[in-house]
Amino acid sequence: MKSVLCFPLFILLIVSMHMGWAFAAEKPSIEKGRLLFNSQSLSGATSGKSCAECHPGGAGLENAWKNQNLAGQVNTCIAGPLKGLKLDENSIEMQSVIMYIRSLKPQH
Ligand code: HEC
Repeated sequence: MKSVLCFPLFILLIVSMHMGWAFAAEKPSIEKGRLLFNSQSLSGATSGKSCAECHPGGAGLENAWKNQNLAGQVNTCIAGPLKGLKLDENSIEMQSVIMYIRSLKPQH
């Protein structure tokens, strides 16, 4: 009897592993970050504002790459002015927004 149960469970395991890999394949990127930064619906934002509303084109964030608590600061601006939900620091969205902000570092 037990082996009858084991097989479907095994299949389920394999399928869920594949789905895990499919999600892992989605990687954070500067481009995704740029889109999210300009989106009025970033992380369930309800205020009708995007990050770009106050930081147009990332203006004023050129030194933010130095910020030791960049994810925390991004979440403060999401929960505050955007009236959205704080993002998990390891989420694709947060990592992408951080990559975008770091890309604003002036190049010499
Ligand atoms: C209503 C205006 C407003 C909106 C919208 C807004 N911010 Fe801010 N943000 C501020 C203000 C004000 C500060 C603090 C002043 C400063 O540091 O220049 C700040 C500071 C920051 C900083 C810290 C800058 C530094 O040098 O360390 C980051 C990073 C940041 N915001 C990112 C974002 C992101 C990402 C979004 C979108 C989720 C966003 N902000 C949306 C007003 C806003």
